[in-house]
Amino acid sequence: MYDLAIIGGGPGGYVAAERAGAAGLKVVLFERKSLGGVCLNEGCIPTKTLLYSAKVYNYAMTGDHYGVYVSDPTFKYDEIVARKNKVVKKLVGGVKAAMKGNGVEVVNENATILGRDQEGIKVEAAGNTYAARNLLICTGSEAAVPPFPGLKEAGDVIVTNREILALEERPEELVVIGGGVIGMEFAAFFSTLGTKVTVVEMLPKILGPLDDEISDMLQKQYEKRGVNFCLRCKVTGIEGNTVVYEDPDGKVCRVSGDKILVSVGRRANLQGFGLENIGVELALNPAGRPYGIKVDEKMRTNVPGVYAAGDVTGFSMLAHTASREGEVAVNNILGKEDRMRYNAIPGVVYTNPEVAGAGLTEAEAKAKGIDYKVVKLPMAYSGRFVAENERGEGICKIIVGARYHEVLGVHMLGNPCSEIIHSACLAIETEMTLEQLQEVVFPHPTVSEIIKETAFTIK
Ligand code: NAI
Repeated sequence: MYDLAIIGGGPGGYVAAERAGAAGLKVVLFERKSLGGVCLNEGCIPTKTLLYSAKVYNYAMTGDHYGVYVSDPTFKYDEIVARKNKVVKKLVGGVKAAMKGNGVEVVNENATILGRDQEGIKVEAAGNTYAARNLLICTGSEAAVPPFPGLKEAGDVIVTNREILALEERPEELVVIGGGVIGMEFAAFFSTLGTKVTVVEMLPKILGPLDDEISDMLQKQYEKRGVNFCLRCKVTGIEGNTVVYEDPDGKVCRVSGDKILVSVGRRANLQGFGLENIGVELALNPAGRPYGIKVDEKMRTNVPGVYAAGDVTGFSMLAHTASREGEVAVNNILGKEDRMRYNAIPGVVYTNPEVAGAGLTEAEAKAKGIDYKVVKLPMAYSGRFVAENERGEGICKIIVGARYHEVLGVHMLGNPCSEIIHSACLAIETEMTLEQLQEVVFPHPTVSEIIKETAFTIK
């Protein structure tokens, strides 16, 4: 009898397994593909590895901004991809080692929930039955591919985040459907390497939930580098290697590419592993369609002993959210008081420059009817930013409560904001005020000082 069976070995499942194993629980983890899930195998890690190659290439191309001259910078796409594969392999090995080190039994098979009897919750894999006191479902998500007319006929011209990572050659022209996080990261990568990129997005802005001013600044920077944005444009069909869309005036337009990336969101994996056999309740969208497993703040489902974490819950589809949710589930299994909070989840877009934010945006504060104030500064107020970002533009915005100046949200554009946003998470989690933030000593010279500098602009 296992204390905990976990289905899915992504950042939700493997982190939970690690924590549970370290706490002395007897854990079995089922993963039918490779440990690490989407994040490690076809998401966060491979894309960041590719984007780093693009960044290095860009440094070589723009060295003259810093008095450094590189003659004829070039790249070998196959070597960039080979390095990405090497990094993924190394990190998958690291997860394997962590499972072993914490006594977690890994079953590399497809798991099916059979149901519950007097011996516990039963899971079947490769003909064997496993009984557990608790079950954690971390089956993740997959790319949502709408049934655009002509999509099937287009064959391998159509790619999602998975297939685009496996391309052996760089496309000369790429059309990206959906200017969200995935769309913008691939637009950034391929445009830097010289691909002609067009982003077709139905909203009036890229990166929908992001701060409006920041998404506008980022779009302008990529426009300058040749990326073509078609906003308020709804895709209506595919004709071979051509995307057909309606522009804001209702005119039918077309744009072609060697490849068409579909990045219009992700869908929770709710089928194919016997979820129906355990009676777990699903969360429904306003149209009454299920979008994820319904959980409470302890990551419990409606079925005692059954928990869910990560993208399968259908919201906050981020690796770090999944890991924390997995930890919350394990802590509750262990009888420790813990609950999931979503008010300080960081979000990063790894374009160049990067975008990072945590907590409420101005638009969200407004929509919630919160009495708020905004303070902001250009990134150029940080000496280190100026030293390292010739011709770079960026911004730091802090949203605070109007009365007590408690930090509600921080949003930044400019490198390396992904590495400093966690201080905003701490400030939000601890309900720190700007006046308290002013008293914290930040290392000089660092880009992080921009947060403190911005805090001093409150009136
Ligand atoms: P997304 O939800 O971020 O963006 C999808 C975009 O497609 C939206 O802007 C939407 O308006 C647009 N769209 C939908 N239908 C359309 C149509 N017919 N025509 C034109 N535009 C259309 O989804 P995305 O980029 O696929 O990412 C999926 C998930 O993966 C997100 O939850 C994201 O947070 C996560 N992710 C996070 C990363 C990070 O943290 N750096 C990196 C990659 C993914």
